[in-house]
Amino acid sequence: MNHEFQIQSLETLYGLDQQGSAFLDERVTTSPIERYTNQERFDAEQEKIFRFHPIIAAHASELPENGAFITLRKAGLPLLLTRDKDGQVHAFLNVCRHRGAKLVSEEKGCKNVFSCPYHAWTFASNGDLRGVPHQKQGFPDIDKAANGLKRLPVAERLGFIWILANPKTESYDFEPFLSVLEQEFGWIDMAGHAITHVETVESNANWKLLLEAGLEAYHFRIAHKNTVGPHMMDNLSSYEMFGPHIRSILPRSSLPTLDPADRDNWDFRELTNVVYTLFPSTQILTMQDHYALIQVEPIAPGKTLIRLATVAPAEDITSDKVDHWKRNHSISKATLTEDFDICADIQSGLESGANDALTFGRYEGALDRFNKEIEKAL
Ligand code: FES
Ligand SMILES: [Fe+2]
Repeated sequence: MNHEFQIQSLETLYGLDQQGSAFLDERVTTSPIERYTNQERFDAEQEKIFRFHPIIAAHASELPENGAFITLRKAGLPLLLTRDKDGQVHAFLNVCRHRGAKLVSEEKGCKNVFSCPYHAWTFASNGDLRGVPHQKQGFPDIDKAANGLKRLPVAERLGFIWILANPKTESYDFEPFLSVLEQEFGWIDMAGHAITHVETVESNANWKLLLEAGLEAYHFRIAHKNTVGPHMMDNLSSYEMFGPHIRSILPRSSLPTLDPADRDNWDFRELTNVVYTLFPSTQILTMQDHYALIQVEPIAPGKTLIRLATVAPAEDITSDKVDHWKRNHSISKATLTEDFDICADIQSGLESGANDALTFGRYEGALDRFNKEIEKAL
C-alpha cells in the first residue's frame, strides 16, 4: 500500500463522513449457518484450505537465537519449530520417528538436541536423527538419513515463519505468495518487529465468525462502547481485496478534523487502524506504534484456539516501555474478548432454528467476500 493510495483512502472516508454516508457494498448477502456448524464442512476446510495455503506458524522473534524452539498446534498438526545452530529455521511434526511419541513437550526453550521421552532416540535441531540407543542389535539396518524428523515447507520472511501445513508436500514455492505481501507491507517495517506479549485463548465459536468480527466497523460503537469504540469512527470503514486477502481501513475518530487543503501531510498511521485479513486464518491489526497479530486455529466447528500477540518495533521494546506494551496488549485483549464473547453466543444460537442464514448488510460486504474466498478454495 503506497502513500498515494493511503491518502486517496483517507479522502474517500473523509468524503463519506462529510456526506453522512458509510462505505457501502452493492447488496445485502447471506451466509448459511451450516458453514459454521457442519462437521463435514469443517473437515473439508481443514483438508482443502489449511493444508494448501501458506499460514503463519509463529513470529520470527519467537525463535530469537540459534537453538531456540517452540511447540504449537497449527492446521491440526503438532509442530516443533526450531532455529538450528546455523540460524536456519525448520518446521517439523513434533512426532518421534520410532513409535510416534510426542518428541518435545515444553512450549519453548533452547536446545540443539531433542531426546524422545519414550526410548531416547535423539534428533538434532536441524531434524537429523542422531542417536538410537542399543542400535546395533535392535535396529541393525536402520537408515538414519531416512528417519529424520518429518519436515514441512517453511520460509522466514516479513518477520514471520510461514509454513505449508501439508506433511505430504516436500517443497513449496512461497515466493509468489510472499512477494505480494512484501509489496503490500512496504509501509511497515514488518521484519523489524518483535513480539512483546503472546497468549492463546479458547473460544466456543467457529473460526470464521471470529475473523468476520474483524471485517466491519458497524459494531464498533455498540459492542466496543467501553473500550475502543469511542476512538473510532461510527460505522465507517473501507475495504479492498488483494488476491484472497482483505485490507480494511478503519478511520479513527479524528478523521473529521482533517484539513482538506493539507492532504499531502495527512498522517495515515495516526489517523487509521488497518486490519489485514490474510487468507485463511490471520488478522494483523495495525495501530499507531505497533500491531496486533490474531491467528485462529480451528479445533472443531464450534471450537477455536486464538493466538493473540502484540508486536512492536524491536527498537521500541525497551525497559522503560514495559508498561506501555503491557497496557496495549491488555487493551487489545479486552477489545477482542468483547468480540469473541459475542461470537461464542452467536455459535450457541446457530442451531436454534432462529436463522437459516446470517445476514450481511451493505456495511458488511467484506464478510461476504471473505466467505466467497473460502467457498472458492473449497
Ligand atoms: S517413540 Fe520415540 S524413542 Fe521410541
Ligand atoms: Fe470488534
